[in-house]
Amino acid sequence: MSDRLAQIARQLNYPRGLLAGQVAIITGAGQGIGAECARLFANEGARVVVSDIDGPKAEEVAARIRASGGEALAVAGDLLRDEAIADLVKKAAEFGGGKIHILVNNAGFTWDAVIHKMTDKQWQTMLHLHVTAPFKLVQALAPYFRVKDGEPRNVVNISSTSGLHGNAGQANYAAAKAAVVGLTKTIAKEWGPAFGVRANTVAFGRIETRLTADKEAGGFIEVDGQKVALGIPAKQKKAGAAAGAEQFADIPLRRAGTATEAASAVLAIASPLSSYISGQTISVTGGRNI
Ligand SMILES: NC(=O)c1ccc[n+]([C@@H]2O[C@H](COP(=O)([O-])OP(=O)(O)OC[C@H]3O[C@@H](n4cnc5c(N)ncnc54)[C@H](O)[C@@H]3O)[C@@H](O)[C@H]2O)c1
Repeated sequence: MSDRLAQIARQLNYPRGLLAGQVAIITGAGQGIGAECARLFANEGARVVVSDIDGPKAEEVAARIRASGGEALAVAGDLLRDEAIADLVKKAAEFGGGKIHILVNNAGFTWDAVIHKMTDKQWQTMLHLHVTAPFKLVQALAPYFRVKDGEPRNVVNISSTSGLHGNAGQANYAAAKAAVVGLTKTIAKEWGPAFGVRANTVAFGRIETRLTADKEAGGFIEVDGQKVALGIPAKQKKAGAAAGAEQFADIPLRRAGTATEAASAVLAIASPLSSYISGQTISVTGGRNI
């Protein structure tokens, strides 16, 4: 449905769209892929909970959705804190009138180091954010997902080519992004039989967001007061080209993906069009690693 049609449908109080009537939590939705998921889900009739550690950015995304006729609630919180997970689920349940249908575990960042220089803090933070927090969120959602009301429920965990194939400098991130694949399959096997809950992993390759912008652009995130720089050093990006390699030579489509393309894949897997797909890992990579 086009943005304009969706807006008119909502103004007429006429729920339509692939996710009409569903309540979705999207973590890390203050920007990048998560923000695009929030926008696309709302366009398809979902009531969206925009969760992010960056409160003002989450509020901005939610406000934009509301301004175009959708329904959204911003919830600020650091998912490395258990209280933030409990608070997110409580607020989402209130917003959803006691129902929550979709969880997209998308919040994340990278904190790279080669193996012999990686600190415990780097290792633990990545494991915590990319697999422990998603697990705890799923666990906290059990009362809302292990139900028999005839309505769909599904979890989408976000992974990466680093998790599926490994990546030099990212032992922590790669291990965590591999772990969510096992978590996903287990949710599918535990909650599928009695409750019909689906769970899938969407693994991205290179998507244009703050995470893959030039490091020199100055993006950062704070972990316990410590600034972690985000992005890929421009020098590293140029190194391939300088060595005569075509840019994105390892990607058959020869380009990075956009946040909208990444989010569209998440929408596709979360929607009823994928109602018989569960336990799978969908690579959204422009063909990289085939
Ligand atoms: N961009 C890529 O090329 C790429 C590739 C593979 C996987 N991914 C994954 O996609 C997901 C989204 O990344 P993106 O590229 O949109 O990055 P992004 O930086 O644009 O967005 C990530 C969001 O997560 C939030 N966040 C980070 N730590 C948080 C915390 N502790 N609690 C709550 N929110 C937190 C950030 O504030 C940010 O808004 C991540 O899981 C990332 O690992 C991205």
